[in-house]
Amino acid sequence: MELIDAIATRQSTRKFNAVPVTEADVKAILRAGCAAPVANGGHDRLHFTVVQSRELLRKIGGATGKAFGTPDYDPFYGAGTFVVVSVKPREGEPTIEVADGACAVENMLLMAAGLGLASVYLWSFRWGLKEQPALISELSLPEGFLPVSGAAIGHADEPLAPRELALPGSYNFVK
Ligand SMILES: Cc1cc2nc3c(=O)[nH]c(=O)nc-3n(C[C@H](O)[C@H](O)[C@H](O)COP(=O)(O)O)c2cc1C
Repeated sequence: MELIDAIATRQSTRKFNAVPVTEADVKAILRAGCAAPVANGGHDRLHFTVVQSRELLRKIGGATGKAFGTPDYDPFYGAGTFVVVSVKPREGEPTIEVADGACAVENMLLMAAGLGLASVYLWSFRWGLKEQPALISELSLPEGFLPVSGAAIGHADEPLAPRELALPGSYNFVK
């Protein structure tokens, strides 16, 4: 799929079916994630965790529902693959790692769309990890890394249709 078509096709899916994502597709998505721009070329400050344990997804989902006061909420929407992007925070730049993580996630979402997969950017799980910090250790992160963003990836029953690429609602030129 052309990049322009992947951009037009990517959209948030909030209902995944049970069809698993193949390992080859997961690896293609990881390759896209680590090809993203990262501040100062600090790719070694990014770590990707592919969570495919239904048990861990259920635990993080339960903690997130608890944090939101909505016990039945599934922040993964049934997806069986959740890629967590973790970063090693930088001295003096307390927010730049969030930007690094966001770039990595967007690259993964676009690759997923290009492979015909459904996806959604996830932030809400962070609330679950704040609610139950002990769950972070179940991600087996390298020392010093913190989870910042994630992507749920899977299959949707309805194929995604490309959307028209509209101009921003608010923009200007300065010439
Ligand atoms: C930083 C960020 C955090 C997000 N967190 C969540 C989330 O936790 N759960 C969710 O369902 N969608 C989440 N989204 C998806 C947005 O709601 C979605 O991208 C937006 O509504 C536009 O829809 P589209 O992705 O279909 O174009 C997040 C998106 C971004 C960029």
